[in-house]
Parts: sequence; C-alpha cells; structure tokens
Amino acid sequence: MIYFLLTFSFISACTKKGVTAGGTTPVPVPPVVVVVDTNLYKFMPFPMGASVGISLMKNNAKYSGVVGKEYNSITAENAMKFGALHPAENTYNWADADYLVAYAQANGKRIHGHTLNWYQNLPAWVTNFSGDSIAWENMLKTHIQTVVAHFKGKVASWDVVNEYFNDDGTIRTSVWVKNLGPDYIARCFQYARQADPDAILFYNDYGHEYSSAKRTAIANLISSFKTRGIPIHGVGMQFHMTYTQTDANINAAMAFAAGTGLKVHLSELDIRLNTNKLQTLVFTDALAAQQAARYKFVVQAYNAAIPKAQQFGITTWNVGDADSWVPSWQGAPDWPLPFDANYLRKPAYKAIIEGGK
Ligand code: XIL
Repeated sequence: MIYFLLTFSFISACTKKGVTAGGTTPVPVPPVVVVVDTNLYKFMPFPMGASVGISLMKNNAKYSGVVGKEYNSITAENAMKFGALHPAENTYNWADADYLVAYAQANGKRIHGHTLNWYQNLPAWVTNFSGDSIAWENMLKTHIQTVVAHFKGKVASWDVVNEYFNDDGTIRTSVWVKNLGPDYIARCFQYARQADPDAILFYNDYGHEYSSAKRTAIANLISSFKTRGIPIHGVGMQFHMTYTQTDANINAAMAFAAGTGLKVHLSELDIRLNTNKLQTLVFTDALAAQQAARYKFVVQAYNAAIPKAQQFGITTWNVGDADSWVPSWQGAPDWPLPFDANYLRKPAYKAIIEGGK
C-alpha cells in the first residue's frame, strides 16, 4: 500500500523545563505533530473531477470524503442518463440526480451533466417506441428540454450527445439515427440551447487517442455546426485508456482537440493495466509505476497542448479501483484509478499533480 504524499508533517520534538522540588529538570513533552494534508484540485491548473455513484456517495463515508476533499468537479456516472432520469414516458425520477446537485451546491463543486442523448441506457419504453418521426422528434425534444430546464442554473454544462460515431468515423446506427435521420444530432444541441441559453454544450466520445478517422469525423461535425450556426462549445474526450497507449497517439488527440477551438474535457479518464485480460493478474509496484507515468504524461500533454481558455478540466471515471466500471466492461480484474480499493492514494495520484506542474 503506498501512502504517497504531499502530506507534510512538522514534528517538533521539544522539551520544556519543568520545576521539581529539587530544582529544575527537563520534563519531556510529547511531540507536536502538525499534519497539513492536500487536496488534489488545489494543485491543478484546471478543474479536476470524478464521476460518482449515488449510493456510494450516500453510504460510504470514505468515498464521499475523498470526493469532497480531492475534486472540484463532479459528473454523475449514471444518474443523469436517460434510463435513470426518465424510466417511463410520463415519469421522471429526479431523486438521485437532485441529491448530487444539492451535494455539489452545498460543497462548492462544479457539476457536469452526462448525458442528454446516447444510444445506450435507454428504457424499454424508448427502444419499443412505435411513433412516427414526428412523435420521435417530440419525444427527443421533450426529454432534452425537460432535463435541461430541471437543472437550469445548477448544471452549467452538458454532454449533449454521446458516442454518435463509430471508430471508423461512420455514424452509428442508433435508434435515434434510425428514426430521425443523422442530422438529429444538430437538433439535440439546438433543443438544449433553447432550454438553457447559458449552458456549455459538449459533444462527447471515446477513441480520440487511437482513431484518426473518428477525430476527423468529429472535427468535420464541429466545423459544419459552426458554419450552420448550431451551438456547440466543447469537445469531451473520454480517454478510457490502456497503459500501453503511445505518446504520439495521446499527443494527436490533444492536438485535434486544441484545433477545434472549443473547450476540451478529458471527461472519463481511466488507465487500465490488464491489456491481456488475465484473470490472474495482480497489481504490482511495477504496474503502479507504469500507470503513474501514463497518468503524468496525459495530464502534461493536456496542459501543454490545450490553451488555457479551452481547459475545461480532467475527470476520472469514478474514484477508487473497486468502483471502476473497467473490470466488468473488460471481464477481467483491473486497477485503473488514482485511488485504491481503500481510497488510499496510488502513485498515479502524485503523478497527476506532477503532470499539472
Ligand atoms: C458506464 C458506467 O460507468 C457503468 O456503470 C454503466 O453500467 C455503463 O456506463 N462511456 C460513457 C459512460 O459515456 O457513460 C459509460 O459509463 C462508460 C463509457
């Protein structure tokens, strides 16, 4: 277990003169220990976030303690997705998302909305929806505008559309594209804008670090939006990475993002280690060091390539290794985050701070 740290301990072992019946003899005084601990976000030149789960926030004091102490930006890992917020056509379930928004407000954290439109996490009533294109359009618009209006003034930024493209740069065949045509994406941004003219609107996706075809498709989408006057303010790059990802690829993603001129959010960063999906892999100091080096490189590359005014920040996808989605996604054990299963800081934690210098 590595307790790295920017924990500064000032130990002053002092002695004091005490007076005894026979004269003055030194009486030992216990050392005064002053621990000045740190908060990750205070070291970073841009907002530092984590995605969080609501039941962990409510029921695990270590977890909520780390969230409160280390991060100044929060994303709901699942609580603002379509299926979570809008389980039946006329039912909205705000409780979990409202809990998080109230927490963020009470604790001075920024809250980033994720996500208004995605091809996943759709409730059955949507996948089974049998209306014509006008009914689909109305359903899409109603969902986006009800959600954005509900959080207006509280959630200042949104992933409006998530994962619209395939890795080869073609448009994914989602229920949305099937029922509304490919340009529905532009209307999502317009609907969000109408509901909250002040919200910062992102297009979010993964794979920028390995697919130049996807980067090109996203760059083309953004320039066509600009030409057509479709509101878009930010590009979210998820960065669910392997520790073997190359410097060149990471730099290419950063250069692309800087070139959009929009705000850039590393929106779901995690760095996985089990590239061969070995069921028997164990987390060693050597792997921890390699992972830390990658975290440092990513943060450094972001900070160097993205102009200040475009730095929306970096968000890791959850907090501790035991909370990560990666093991179930990959079907193998992994340790992708800066905190271990006990919420102790891993070498990656210090590396993030180093990368931000
Ligand atoms: C994941 C969550 O982490 C899981 O808990 C959930 O079961 C599935 O979704 N890209 C995204 C995120 O934009 O919303 C996904 O989150 C991970 C991939």
